[in-house]
Amino acid sequence: MNSAILGTGSYVPTRVLTNADLERMVDTSDTWIVERTGIRERRLVAPGQACSDLALQAAQRALLAANVKACDIDLILLATCTGDAPLPSTACLLQHQLGATRAAACDISAACCGFVYALSIADAYIKTGMRHVLVVASEVMSAITDWTDRNTCVLFGDGAGAVVLGQGSQHSGILSTHLHANGRLPEMIHVPGGGSREPASKEVLDNKRCFIKMKGNETFKIAVKSMEEAAHEAADANGVAMADIDVFIPHQANMRILKAVSQRLGLGQEKLMINLDKFGNTSAASIPLALDEAVLSQKVQKGQLVLLAAFGAGLTWASALVRW
Ligand code: COA
Repeated sequence: MNSAILGTGSYVPTRVLTNADLERMVDTSDTWIVERTGIRERRLVAPGQACSDLALQAAQRALLAANVKACDIDLILLATCTGDAPLPSTACLLQHQLGATRAAACDISAACCGFVYALSIADAYIKTGMRHVLVVASEVMSAITDWTDRNTCVLFGDGAGAVVLGQGSQHSGILSTHLHANGRLPEMIHVPGGGSREPASKEVLDNKRCFIKMKGNETFKIAVKSMEEAAHEAADANGVAMADIDVFIPHQANMRILKAVSQRLGLGQEKLMINLDKFGNTSAASIPLALDEAVLSQKVQKGQLVLLAAFGAGLTWASALVRW
């Protein structure tokens, strides 16, 4: 039996940061951002709003859609690189806020691939007998963004997405997941300070070591190749032709990356789910955020083949094929 996605949910904070706002903060322009990234605006948390607050909203919506009560969740996996604090896990905070008293809970750290990694782990637990797993991806990227660095600050946004996994049938649900990592290139995308290597200090703060640094151009090329490879792997493992994919939901990093990947896969624009124009790159949250929008707008319909592909820091890359 496959595990099935019983319900989806998402949440974004209400505060909108437009490209025009960014023009007033760094040396950039709406034209440059739209042409180079496809992003028009992104959402930012309100002061005091944290990762678990976004996760709670998304999780509650997913539980409602799945018609599953919080007390019936066995496990909560929360994918994030921007948790409320280093300790305890944000998943435990969410467990309490939801009242999911029976659920085990832990965070998953796989950057932008976090959701697909967590989905894969959840799938394995359901296949071995667990009844309900809540997978949430929630990110407050604004907390690790250097708002004076035009190379990165135009790219990221805050948001959360969630799915509830349960027992499915033999021919529908999660057909496969594939996960990859290559730790040889950690500096491609990283936050160098604030961990045990460079603990939080005035120096770390002064040198902006607690903010995200990225080699954008090199990352771009690897992202396209890796997502293409992961997508093919998903199709091949299931004996499915790329033409049979109905909806392609890639990690929302950059419009040019999404278009290049779907073009290489031979997937038409009508099959590609895009919402990064509204939310930017929300790291682990981007796929479940886009998936929930696709479900609510009925772009994803029962019986369809949905392909998820992600790429991120680590480096990590991953895919999942779902029969809806
Ligand atoms: N506004 C205006 N100019 C900017 C800018 C901004 N916000 N950011 C960078 N530039 C400038 C650069 O300084 C550079 O100027 P120079 O030629 O005078 O040095 C020029 O634009 C081109 O920079 P480059 O980095 O080559 O641009 P690019 O076409 O690669 O686009 C990214 C930059 C970051 C948008 C793009 O590389 C990207 O999206 N990469 C992938 C990032 C990603 O998805 N990472 C996460 C994966 S999970």
